Amino acid sequence: MLTFELLTTDPASHARRGRLTLNHGVVETPIFMPVGTYGTVKGVMPRSLHEMGAQIILGNTFHLWMRPGLDVVQSFGGLHAFEQWHKPILTDSGGFQVWSLGEMRKISEEGVKFASPVNGDKLFLTPEISMQIQTVLNSDIVMQFDECTPYETKGQITTEREARQSMELSLRWARRCQAEFARLQNPNALFGIVQGGMFEHLRDESLQQLVEMDFPGYAVGGVSVGEPKEDMLRITAHTPHRLPAHKPRYLMGVGTPEDLVYGVQQGVDMFDCVMPTRNARNGHLFTRFGDLKIRNARHKTDPRPIDETCTCYACAGSSGVAWADGGREGFSRAYLHHLERCGEMLAPMLATVHNLHYYLQLMTGVRGALDAGQLGAFAARFHADRARGV
Ligand code: GUN
Ligand code: ZN
Repeated sequence: MLTFELLTTDPASHARRGRLTLNHGVVETPIFMPVGTYGTVKGVMPRSLHEMGAQIILGNTFHLWMRPGLDVVQSFGGLHAFEQWHKPILTDSGGFQVWSLGEMRKISEEGVKFASPVNGDKLFLTPEISMQIQTVLNSDIVMQFDECTPYETKGQITTEREARQSMELSLRWARRCQAEFARLQNPNALFGIVQGGMFEHLRDESLQQLVEMDFPGYAVGGVSVGEPKEDMLRITAHTPHRLPAHKPRYLMGVGTPEDLVYGVQQGVDMFDCVMPTRNARNGHLFTRFGDLKIRNARHKTDPRPIDETCTCYACAGSSGVAWADGGREGFSRAYLHHLERCGEMLAPMLATVHNLHYYLQLMTGVRGALDAGQLGAFAARFHADRARGV
């Protein structure tokens, strides 16, 4: 099941404020979805995700198929009970993960042959198998199995002819996904994925055919695949607003805080990206006033939190707890720097909490601005703040 309610639209851009109702709950859009590849958002307890206001998280068909395998997840009745996250989950189909394998795979009309990166076993993933796996996972949003068209292969930029072949293969796979999803009587929602590489007319053809197939929601794939930033922005400006207005739109694998605000203005409702979580583990922190590298020596004695205006557990502590010594709650940059230098596991945990909180709060701010008819002013302040520097 999926219903999408369009609440307001911004007269000055393509931005929309919406509400998505799924089998495991309601999602207010625009939304950022934290990535939980192996059935966990790395280093974050589901309780913390809930506390920071995460509404929906991702899982990955490919990884969960490898480990723990379908039998285990099936014995728990699906991914929600297994990973103890009881709000909506979106699973990617494996299309992008197979793309990430690079040389280790062989694509045919039927599907993709590859060697398991875990134990070398020969595996075959098809649109039908992807639907069968995602049905066992019982994710609220199921992604079609697609071929994520690469930007370049061995230094050769993908030609229009290659991008067309790839896009057309994804369309045929979209039909097979739809048929299998129906045969399985999956009670959730299947999204189609627009491909077409860096070519607007191919994007239009892909979009038109997917719209004819009448999916309950649509994604834009094949961006953030190594292309120059200007190409990413060009495709993001071209595609989302051409999708049906009354259905949710998801821009896959994007991006920086600036990319999210830009994407919203181009009519995108949903985003996911490993950036806040992966960068956190490398000591890269996103803040309202720009980015910060906590390993930098200049933080060695700094008593300030990552961001004085942030209300996350890393910056502000757990509100309501009074310490006997009267100490201020929230961790200092000096302490986080120390943890990083020592390789302590609390370092990436706190950094991840902060970065995710920042991304989620950014989208809360975007939704509030849309509700108030103030997105333009919000975006202007966002850019000015980010340029200020930490
Ligand atoms: N994640 C980021 N881009 C893509 C894409 O094009 N396809 C899929 N399935 N997942 C993605
Ligand atoms: Zn914080």
